[in-house]
Amino acid sequence: MAIDIRPITAAESLEYLRVLPYVNGFPQEEPEPSAWYAGTAAWPPQVPPSPADLERYAEELQADWIRPQAAFVDGKIAGGSAIVSVQVTVPGGRQLDLGGVTSTAVLPTYRRRGLLRKIMSAMLADCRERGEFLAGLSASEGTIYGRYGFSPATFQHRWEVRRTDVAFRSEFTDSGELELVDGVVAGEVWPVLHEQVRAQRVGEISPLPGKWDGLPSGALPADGSGRAHHLVHRDATRAVDGAAIFRLPWSPDPAQAGVLQVEAFEALTSDAYRALWGLLLDFDLTKRVVAARRPVDEPLRWMLTNPRALKLTRTRDNLWQRILDVQGALEARTYAATDSLVLDVSDDLFGSGRWRLDAAPDGATCTATDQSADLSLGIAELGSMYLGGVRASELSHAGRIDEHTPGAVSRLDAVLRTERAPHNAVGF
Ligand SMILES: CC(C)(COP(=O)(O)OP(=O)(O)OC[C@H]1O[C@@H](n2cnc3c(N)ncnc32)[C@H](O)[C@@H]1OP(=O)(O)O)[C@@H](O)C(=O)NCCC(=O)NCCS
Repeated sequence: MAIDIRPITAAESLEYLRVLPYVNGFPQEEPEPSAWYAGTAAWPPQVPPSPADLERYAEELQADWIRPQAAFVDGKIAGGSAIVSVQVTVPGGRQLDLGGVTSTAVLPTYRRRGLLRKIMSAMLADCRERGEFLAGLSASEGTIYGRYGFSPATFQHRWEVRRTDVAFRSEFTDSGELELVDGVVAGEVWPVLHEQVRAQRVGEISPLPGKWDGLPSGALPADGSGRAHHLVHRDATRAVDGAAIFRLPWSPDPAQAGVLQVEAFEALTSDAYRALWGLLLDFDLTKRVVAARRPVDEPLRWMLTNPRALKLTRTRDNLWQRILDVQGALEARTYAATDSLVLDVSDDLFGSGRWRLDAAPDGATCTATDQSADLSLGIAELGSMYLGGVRASELSHAGRIDEHTPGAVSRLDAVLRTERAPHNAVGF
């Protein structure tokens, strides 16, 4: 079995596409949110794409923001993956290039022979050579990517609340106003709003080209998932500072009737945040509000007289992160406290090292050192903690960080801490 790992040529695009899961028609891990309320029709089985679709995907593979990689076995493609060029906002506000691993699949008859390991090693080495300090992905199964040094760094919640359980603690005055707009206006609002959001939100990802092109037009989908409604909030100067997309899906099941499903929600200011939720949680003729892909530190519960009314129905990992360059990554963010720590970081792929981190609120230096280490950890643990979403103390209790200097775990927590939990509403 002769194995060759390399980028594909344009002529190999169609063959490459045939190994990808969405082309193969593999089931998704779970239905789209609309399917929970609109029944199975909103989650149709994936069907192989038409020849025209394949041509379109093949053309997209020629773009400069995507780098497809394949495993050729005896000259035929047996597996593939790709890196997309995106950016992630890190503590302090820098938007770092991140190699986004996507569309990973190996044909069922070639699995468990090390093809993904070879593809991944080649892709991550290429990212590093290009100067990307970080790689990231979202994982179909939680057991696959830890071995390559990836680990969850952001998380998201799905919650729901019964309208009859909603009572706000206090009236709030809003100097701005809410407006329902059509898909055309929403298509202008969302890209601008998201740019502003990601400038201030740690963990947020830049959208791939075309992300906003398919913004729901307001047409009624045949699958019962409900037409998209677009709500915006404008501040006193009429500038948009928040927006939401919601649907009122139809369900044949009376128990699921009357759901307002929040598909997207962003607010730059507290005024916009409160006003948008104020309307969405008290929407006539609905019984329940559900929202998916929400940040884990949603302030909404603190607006309610009964914070328990907001029920978490799912929590899941979102962005898995892999640090490719310890020095580059640690020097690119800012820190919540001033301190110096020596970290012994093990990394199977790019080599282990001992790093002295001199961290401060305005930045850091990170230098290779032979001083004795305060802490030993793996590259995966560092990847989880890097954006501030996972605490060193949590990983230490789990036996994943060794503390050599008493108190070093708490000190690492204190420097890495971020004001808000990192979150990415946009993926890749
Ligand atoms: C996930 C997938 C790409 C792995 O490809 P592969 O070539 O079989 O992986 P490898 O042989 O290189 O596996 C490397 C290691 O991961 C393990 N592994 C691979 N897939 C795994 C899985 N789904 N669950 C648990 N372990 C897995 C292998 O056992 C192997 O372990 P080892 O290093 O201890 O020997 C392939 O199974 C696949 O196409 N799955 C369906 C689509 C999918 O889930 N894609 C991921 C999208 S995020």
